[in-house]
Amino acid sequence: MRTVTLINGDGIGPEISDAVVKIIEASGLKIHWDVQTAGEDVISQEGVPLPERVLNSVKKNKIALKAPVTTPIGKGFRSVNVQLRKELDLYANLRPCKNLPNVKTRFDNVDIVVIRENTEDLYAGIERQVDADTAESIKIITRKASERICKFAFDYAVNNKRREVCVVTKANIMKLSDGLFLDCFRRVAQDYPKINTREILVDNLCMQLVQKPEQFDVLVLPNLYGDIVSDLCAGLIGGLGVAQGANIGLDCAVFEPVHGSAPDIKGQNKANPTALLLSAVEMLRYMKEFEYAEKIEKALFRTLSAGICTADLGGSASTTEFRDAVILNLQQP
Ligand code: NAI
Repeated sequence: MRTVTLINGDGIGPEISDAVVKIIEASGLKIHWDVQTAGEDVISQEGVPLPERVLNSVKKNKIALKAPVTTPIGKGFRSVNVQLRKELDLYANLRPCKNLPNVKTRFDNVDIVVIRENTEDLYAGIERQVDADTAESIKIITRKASERICKFAFDYAVNNKRREVCVVTKANIMKLSDGLFLDCFRRVAQDYPKINTREILVDNLCMQLVQKPEQFDVLVLPNLYGDIVSDLCAGLIGGLGVAQGANIGLDCAVFEPVHGSAPDIKGQNKANPTALLLSAVEMLRYMKEFEYAEKIEKALFRTLSAGICTADLGGSASTTEFRDAVILNLQQP
């Protein structure tokens, strides 16, 4: 039986992870969950929000499902999420964004996968105050990181039967840094002759995404554009309650929803577990458990199609009622 680290988070984390674990159990797939607490609730006993044992567990099991974790404000702790990404070198941020049944949005045919480079660009944190009136941030783009994210995008396209990978840059202005990213994309693309390629400037992409999003398939972007565009795409499919994600490295992968710990609805049995459930479905695909991934996704879609959803999507189901409805739909052929 495969062991997976489960970081059940804080805020609404424990409620939605309980729902997702029970749905996976009901699908018949056997997973041994190595449950690791992290976040605000462990600080009082262990002094830090991300104890070493959590990192060791992910390193050992290579794969984790993670519910959201609060970043305490003004207490001097680094974000658990940023720390996990750095310590485990999770270089690829993966955000599949696809319309869900009965989730009302402006567009009907969105099926975009955003792949964002997670380790460098303007987020490398190299900044300096030049003088009292001038600050400077350095944009780092390397061949190594650019080639590996482009290769990740093409491999994802092949493994998930996607037709096209589109590279997003501003290489017309940042000729050296974004130019290098584009050059790496073109080189890597030669190894994948069956996948179509496209090149687009980030400003044009944003306009097209809010006019004709159905034309895009897999997008690969440097860190900053990826951060912004992935939120734009999450908005296209209905926002936080349904936006899934993953951070993937050479050795380990952590699957997690985009949303945070929602302290405003903590403990009220109101939270929508869909984003974490979709992250878990993507995790099962990564684990090559395709049959169970399809089965759970189908049960989720049936539940939404029947108009059963939580309050954030305009419904009246509680977290546990929604969970039970998905479990019931797992029994349908
Ligand atoms: P948030 O995503 O937790 O909440 C924003 C709004 O969306 C709230 O009104 C919340 O009730 C609602 N919401 C979020 N997820 C929902 C769900 N599954 N079902 C129903 N409603 C949902 O963002 P916020 O308030 O800015 O952050 C709260 C905490 O979460 C902060 O400490 C932040 O640092 C942390 N955070 C953690 C993340 C992670 O662990 N990956 C990601 C983003 C924020």
